[in-house]
Amino acid sequence: MTTSVPQAYAQLDMTGRSILVTGAGSGMGREAAILLAGRGARITAVDVNEAGGKETLQAIEAIDGEAQFVRADITVENDVQTMVQEAVDKFGDLYGAFNNAGIIGAGGAVVDLEYDKWKTVMDINLNGAFLCMKYEIPAILAGGGGSIVNTASTAAAIAYPNLPAYVSSKHGVLGLTRQVALDYAAQNIRVNAVLPGSTMTPLAEEAFADPEVKAKAEAAQPIGRLGRPEEIAEMAAWLLSDAASFVVGSAFFVDGGVNAA
Ligand SMILES: NC(=O)c1ccc[n+]([C@@H]2O[C@H](COP(=O)([O-])OP(=O)(O)OC[C@H]3O[C@@H](n4cnc5c(N)ncnc54)[C@H](O)[C@@H]3O)[C@@H](O)[C@H]2O)c1
Repeated sequence: MTTSVPQAYAQLDMTGRSILVTGAGSGMGREAAILLAGRGARITAVDVNEAGGKETLQAIEAIDGEAQFVRADITVENDVQTMVQEAVDKFGDLYGAFNNAGIIGAGGAVVDLEYDKWKTVMDINLNGAFLCMKYEIPAILAGGGGSIVNTASTAAAIAYPNLPAYVSSKHGVLGLTRQVALDYAAQNIRVNAVLPGSTMTPLAEEAFADPEVKAKAEAAQPIGRLGRPEEIAEMAAWLLSDAASFVVGSAFFVDGGVNAA
C-alpha cells in the first residue's frame, strides 16, 4: 500500500492556491468557492451579479477563508483580462479556475428561436469559457501549471426537448475542454469538465417554479431527487486538487444517475 488515508485527504488540501471561480455569486459557483476556501484556497470570486458575489465573499470570510470579489462579465474580453490580472495581483500566479458561469437562456424549436437569443446563450456559455481559458492559461503557466474545471451539463452529452442553444453550447464546452486539455497536458495544466444534472440552484428554481414540473423532474432522476449545489462543488474541488493528478480531458457526470438511464 502506497497511500495512507491521511495522505489521501491531504491531497484535497488547497492551502495557498489562487483559484478563480466564475458564477461565484450563486448556486454551484458559490458552493465551490466556499468549499475551496475552506480547504485553504485563496479565492477570486467572479460574477456579473455584485450583490450575489458579495454574499459569497461574506460566507467565505465567516469561515476565516481568504477571498476577493471581482465583478466581471465573462462575455467582455476586457473584463476577463482584468479579472485574471486582479487574481494574480492579489493572490499570486493562478493555480486553477472553475469556469462555471452560465445560463439556460431561451428555449424553443430551432425554427422558432430568435437568432439574438441563440447568440446570447452561445456567448455566455461557450464564448465565455473560451475567453476565460484564453486569459487564465498564461497566468497558470506562469506558476508552473495547475488545473481548470469547466461546468458543462448532462446537456453536453444528450439533447433535451426544445433546448437547442443550451444543448449546443454545453456540447461546445465539453469539446473545448477536451481540446484545451490535449493542448496543455504536457505543460502541466489539467483541464476537465463536470456535467451536472438537474440541481436546485436559482437557475433551476426558475425552471422548476411550477411544482408539477418540479415533481416530474424529480421522478425522472434515478436517485429520486434533484441535486444540491454542494454536490457539484465536491466534484469541482476534487478535480482541482492533487487527488485528481492523472485526470485529464475527462467528463464527469454528477447527475443522480440520469446518464445511466
Ligand atoms: N442548476 C442546474 O440544474 C444545472 C445543470 C447542469 C448545468 N448547470 C450549469 O451550472 C453552471 C452554474 O449554474 P447554477 O445552477 O449554479 O446557476 P446560478 O444561476 O445559480 O449561477 C450562475 C451564476 O453565473 C452568473 N453569470 C451569468 N452570466 C454571467 C456572465 N456573463 N458573466 C459573469 N457571471 C455570469 C450569474 O450571475 C449567476 O450568479 C451553469 O454553467 C449552468 O449551465 C446547471
